[in-house]
Amino acid sequence: MKSNTIKILHIDSNHPLLWNQLEATGFQNEADYSSSKEEIEAKIQNYNGIVIRSRFKIDKNFLDKATNLQFIARVGAGLESIDCDYAQSKGIHLIAAPEGNRNAVAEHALGMILSLFNNLNKANTEVKSGKWNREANRGHELDGKTVGIIGYGNMGKAFAKKLRGFDVQVLCYDILPNVADANAKQVTLEELQQKSDVLSLHTPWTTVTDKMINTAFINSFAKPFWLVNTARGKSVVTSDVVDALKTKKILGAGLDVLEYEKLSFENLFEEEKPKAFEYLLQAENVLLSPHIAGWTFESHEKLAQTIVDKIKGIYFEENEKNEDIRVTGIGGIFFKTNNPKEVKEWYQKHLGFNTDEYGATFWWKDKNGNDCSTQWSPFAEETDYFEPSKKEFMQNFRVHDLEGLLKKISEEGVTIVGDMQTYEYGKFAWIMDIEGNKIELWEPIDSAFK
Ligand SMILES: NC(=O)c1ccc[n+]([C@@H]2O[C@H](COP(=O)([O-])OP(=O)(O)OC[C@H]3O[C@@H](n4cnc5c(N)ncnc54)[C@H](O)[C@@H]3O)[C@@H](O)[C@H]2O)c1
Repeated sequence: MKSNTIKILHIDSNHPLLWNQLEATGFQNEADYSSSKEEIEAKIQNYNGIVIRSRFKIDKNFLDKATNLQFIARVGAGLESIDCDYAQSKGIHLIAAPEGNRNAVAEHALGMILSLFNNLNKANTEVKSGKWNREANRGHELDGKTVGIIGYGNMGKAFAKKLRGFDVQVLCYDILPNVADANAKQVTLEELQQKSDVLSLHTPWTTVTDKMINTAFINSFAKPFWLVNTARGKSVVTSDVVDALKTKKILGAGLDVLEYEKLSFENLFEEEKPKAFEYLLQAENVLLSPHIAGWTFESHEKLAQTIVDKIKGIYFEENEKNEDIRVTGIGGIFFKTNNPKEVKEWYQKHLGFNTDEYGATFWWKDKNGNDCSTQWSPFAEETDYFEPSKKEFMQNFRVHDLEGLLKKISEEGVTIVGDMQTYEYGKFAWIMDIEGNKIELWEPIDSAFK
């Protein structure tokens, strides 16, 4: 697809980089942050793309009017406000940006747990009103506890990653098999309920997760536990949580999302407050925040960047695949040295390298304006990382499509060393050139370094 005639309607405001980078790439942007859904429906046939946060639902009716729509980009984690099946049946690309706010959600969930465990909110209020209650604010330690995560996708995984170093056991339960990574052990729901001291919810709102945290569910936990919900408010029956807080089956709750929120997440409710909510408002062991777990200065930018990258991906990657692009840049220069530490210091002092444990990372932009990195690393003389090469150095090349390239070059007779490896920051494989130099090939995910 070509981008030069692509008209995009932005119906929510976002970080300016989203608009600016799309414009710089040749997309035509238009903004309409105030018209009603009906007014937008009346003109949506004029656009090829729509960028939305949570202003309204994109349903069948809307999609039937959007006869020229090629993509819907939601500047947020989930797509629950969009009739995804119907959109996909019309060949519309769906884009979300969970990569942009997963770190924010993870840090917020952790912050809530630490605050609840240490009575920070309660103690702060007391000290500020002149009360100095030390014993009544004695805290708990996370060390040695078991944290249960339900829903092990983007957010659940990012949260488990944050728990590294806390000496906790992390269990996850998910409806999909084999989702666990090194940071959590996947178990049955029963085992999670048997062992957990903390429950953190990271599931989407679906017919199954609607009202999932109810009395029966809570009572299936073997021990009293702390509850953190940064997922969706409607997955929790608030009145049942309140009952459990009263009986101390739930020891404390951190709720970033509430059952009573409106779809747009922009306000709570105008009517009278439900009784259960009144309880939460005065409970000292309940921490509330207004759906801001994913809402940081950093995520504002990361969400926008993720959306830009994914929109460009739709229009450029197809072409690039057809063009047989192989290496796209230098990914790294690695060399052996007798003293990596001194060598790093020399390069830092005389050449201004910003060195770290691994060497130095240089950032640059590719022709689509994406952030790319190149790594410089001294290795200890005795490293076996360059083997079977006997040379003192190894080059790393950034590649567009590692699996595709490996297939092509193995047909061309190139020697491949070992198996392809996949990490958070990309895929790696190794080959030998005709002079016995080992080459590392890297299909990068540069954003993982940020
Ligand atoms: N509070 C905030 O600011 C904020 C920000 C971002 C995301 N969220 C919410 O966090 C939740 C998770 O987002 P994500 O991007 O990680 O989604 P995701 O799709 O990457 O992961 C969700 C995981 O939950 C699993 N799952 C679905 N139904 C389940 C069930 N019934 N039982 C167990 N597991 C189930 C899925 O298989 C998947 O692995 C969503 O509700 C999202 O809207 C909130």
